[in-house]
Order: sequence, then structure tokens, then C-alpha cells
Amino acid sequence: MKIGQTKFLRMCPLLNTATVAALLGNACGLSTIPNALQKRLVEVLFKNGGISMQKIVVLNGSPRKQGVTAALAEEVSKAASDQGAEIKSYYLNGMNIKGCQSCYACKEQEHRCILRDDMQELYDEIDAADGIVFATPVYMWQMTAQLKQVIDRLYPFIKPDYSSYLAPGKKILLAVTQARHDTLMFHHYFEHMGKNLLFLGFGVYKILIAGGAKIPEDFYKQTEVVAEARRMGNWLAESNSEA
Ligand SMILES: Cc1cc2nc3c(=O)[nH]c(=O)nc-3n(C[C@H](O)[C@H](O)[C@H](O)COP(=O)(O)O)c2cc1C
Repeated sequence: MKIGQTKFLRMCPLLNTATVAALLGNACGLSTIPNALQKRLVEVLFKNGGISMQKIVVLNGSPRKQGVTAALAEEVSKAASDQGAEIKSYYLNGMNIKGCQSCYACKEQEHRCILRDDMQELYDEIDAADGIVFATPVYMWQMTAQLKQVIDRLYPFIKPDYSSYLAPGKKILLAVTQARHDTLMFHHYFEHMGKNLLFLGFGVYKILIAGGAKIPEDFYKQTEVVAEARRMGNWLAESNSEA
């Protein structure tokens, strides 16, 4: 079976290194390629050939591990993963993350927080990510406290002159669930949150809100919202040059 070059290149991020290298070897008429060369070939293809595997981090601030927010985030993640993105998900409620202590150490010696808790792992993940999903149910018209602790702890990413340590172009999705059917009701709050994240140095944000949802089934039966979640996943999986 023959496939076009464009289709082949699109499929590459879905395959493992050895498979891509073997396919390239066949295409070039070589029967085997040494392992070291395989790795190098794929690196060149991914980095210089314009192909990138997007890395997406999902931070779920809901205390309900199997709740509506998890279902919404999962739908976004599945779509992104289907497009070849690498997904890493975190359930914030189960992590050891303290609130910001207002010590300002992050503005003095280093651009990392001095609190040695699970936030240190999230700093590395956010640094390396192309896209971050901040997922939360609406609690009292706002994000949950679990997510707010993480947002406050992003303060080290701002330099004292208010420029950012973050690499440019990171995409943000605010994935929100709420009991109220009116999805415009708290939209302004999440716009405010999105603008704050742009100020921190993130590149662009989108807001996805699933309303009328108390259990995951309430979300799944809203097929248009599920479809929108999948579109958002596809958007996150696109390389930034296509954004
Ligand atoms: C403490 C608390 C406060 C809530 N406040 C709101 C609210 O202000 N507006 C709203 O529409 N839903 C509110 N809800 C409902 C949740 O946002 C909604 O059921 C959500 O989909 C639950 O997501 P989860 O299953 O991931 O926890 C609240 C729920 C709780 C437990």
C-alpha cells in the first residue's frame, strides 16, 4: 500500500521511534538501520522536519476523581491523544501542594518556589508543555481551591520586571463544569482567569464550559459539548505554528 508523503508525516507522531525509522529505512532502500542512527533520524524528522509531538499537561482541580470535570478533561485528552499528542494528567486533590507563603524567595534567588512539595514536578511539566488544561468545576462562582493553590504557585514564572520565564506560545484550555445550565453565567470569571494567565506569559487561552452537569452522564448526553471538547483537544494537539 502506498501513502502520500504528507499523510506519512502526519502519522509519524503516532508511531514509535523504531517503526518510523524502519519505514524510513525501507523508503530509502536500506534493509536495516543501526539503532543510534534510528534515534538520530527520528529526532531530525521531528525537530527539523516540522513534525512535533505536542506535550499536554492536564491539571484537574476537582475533588471528584470520576466526576464531570474528569469526564470533560478525558474527552479533550482523548482527542488530543488521537492526534498524536502526549498527555500527562494530574489529580490535584491527591497531591501535596501548599498555598503560596508570600515569602518572595521566587523573586530573589531563583525563579522556582522554595517550598519542596509536589508543585516542583508541576513546574517542570509546565516548562516542558506545549499546552496546559486547567480543569475545574465551578465552586461558588469560581475555580476550586485546589486549582487556585496551583495558580497562586505559578507566581515564580513572573520576573520582578513582570516579564515571564515561560517559553512563548503555550496554549491554555480552561475546561469548566458547572451545575447551572447557563454557560455564560460564570464566563466572565474564566475570561478574567485567562487574562491573568496571559499576563503570566502563557500564549493563548480558550474556554470550554459544560453546564447542567452534576454527574458525568449529564455531560455525555450533551453531544454538542462533547464534540466541542474533542475540537479543543484537536486544537491543543496542533503544533503552535498552526495555531
Ligand atoms: C461547594 C460547591 C459549590 C458549587 N458551586 C457552584 C456554582 O457556584 N455554580 C454552579 O453552577 N455549580 C456549582 N456547583 C456544582 C458543580 O460545579 C458541578 O456539579 C460540577 O459539574 C461538579 O464537577 P465534578 O463532578 O468534577 O466535581 C458547586 C458544587 C459544590 C460541591
